Amino acid sequence: MNKVMPLVRRGVNASRLALGCMPFGGSWDSEPFTEQHVKEAEAAVEAALEIGITMFDHADIYTRGKAEQVFGRILQAKPELREQIIIQSKCGIQLSDDQLPGRFNFSYDHIVQSVDDSLERLGIDYLDVLLLHRPDPLVEPDEVAEALAVLKAAGKVRYFGVSNMSAPQIEFLQQAIPDSFAVNQLEMSLGHLHFVDQDIHVNQQAGTNVHFGSGLMEYCRSRHIQLQAWGPLAQGKFSGRNVDDQPEHIRQTAALVQQLADQKDTTPEAIVLGWLMRHPAMIQPIVGTTNPERIKACQDAEHQAEQMSRDEWYQLYTSARGQMVP
Ligand SMILES: NC(=O)c1ccc[n+]([C@@H]2O[C@H](COP(=O)([O-])OP(=O)(O)OC[C@H]3O[C@@H](n4cnc5c(N)ncnc54)[C@H](OP(=O)(O)O)[C@@H]3O)[C@@H](O)[C@H]2O)c1
Repeated sequence: MNKVMPLVRRGVNASRLALGCMPFGGSWDSEPFTEQHVKEAEAAVEAALEIGITMFDHADIYTRGKAEQVFGRILQAKPELREQIIIQSKCGIQLSDDQLPGRFNFSYDHIVQSVDDSLERLGIDYLDVLLLHRPDPLVEPDEVAEALAVLKAAGKVRYFGVSNMSAPQIEFLQQAIPDSFAVNQLEMSLGHLHFVDQDIHVNQQAGTNVHFGSGLMEYCRSRHIQLQAWGPLAQGKFSGRNVDDQPEHIRQTAALVQQLADQKDTTPEAIVLGWLMRHPAMIQPIVGTTNPERIKACQDAEHQAEQMSRDEWYQLYTSARGQMVP
C-alpha cells in the first residue's frame, strides 16, 4: 500500500494523520481562554509533533475563535513552527447568538472577512488550506469564486477544499471555481460507517438508511481530492470509553478492537484509525483527542493499516455495523 496521499500529490507536505484543534481554548461560550488552556494545547501539539503529525485542523468557529487564538499563542512562542506545519481552517458557519440562530454563509464578504479574522487570531500571513465548512443553500458559485480568487491573489490561502459536501455540490461549485478543490472533510469512522455502506447497498432497500452522498468516495478518489475523516476515533467508543450503555454490537466491536490490539501488540486507537486508513482512498484521519497520551497512542495507526488483512478489515466492519454484508 505505498500509495501517495492526494494532498501530498498536490505538493502539500501533509502528515498521514492530522490533529483536530476543535477543543483548544476551552468552552464554546464567551468566557476568555486561560493560560491553562494554552498549556493544554501546547502539550497536545507537542505530543502530535512527537509522533510525526505536522497538519493541524481549525475552523473560525471552534470555541468561538479561541481555538485559533490559543494556537496563535503557541506559534508566537515558537515562530519557527509555522513553516514546519500545515495549517488548515474553515469558514462558512455562523454560530447562533442572542439574536439569530446558527446559519451558513458563503457570501463574498463573510468568506473574505472570516479568513482575515482567522489569520489575525493565528498570527500568521497565510493558511495552507481553507475549507468551506458546510454547504450553504443560498450559495452563488460566482460569489464564492470571487472570494477565493481574491484570497489566493493576496497570498492568504494556498489551497481550497470543502467539508460535508456531496459530489454534485462540489461539481456545481467547481463550474465557477478554477482551482480544483484539494480536500473534502466528512464524518467517517468505525462508528460512522455510511461511507462504506453507501457502496454496498446501491440496489438494496437498506440503502435508504444510508446517509452519504452517492458515489462520493469514487468521485473524490478519481479527482484526487483528499478525503479527511472527522470523528475518526468515534469519540473513543472502541478504544476505552465506557460503552456499558451502548448496543451489544458496539460493545462486541470494542472487545474485538482490544483483542486485535493485544494480538498485534499495539493500541486500540491504532486499530480503529488503521481500519479507516486501510481503505484505498488514503483517508486522512483528523484525530480529535487533546489528551497527549491518547495522541501518542495513535502513532502506530499507519503501520496497522499496512498490516491489516482484508479479513480483519471486514471482520471489524461487519461487527461495527451489527449485521452481515448483503
Ligand atoms: N468538518 C466538520 O464538520 C467537523 C465536525 C467535527 C469535527 N471536525 C474536526 O475533526 C476533529 C476530530 O473530531 P472529533 O473530536 O469528533 O474526533 P474523535 O477523534 O473521534 O473524538 C475525539 C473525542 O473523543 C474523546 N475520546 C477519545 N478517546 C476517548 C476515550 N478512550 N475515552 C474518553 N474519551 C475519548 C476525546 O476526548 P479527550 O480529548 O479527552 O481524549 C475527544 O473529545 C475536530 O477536532 C475538528 O478538527 C470537523
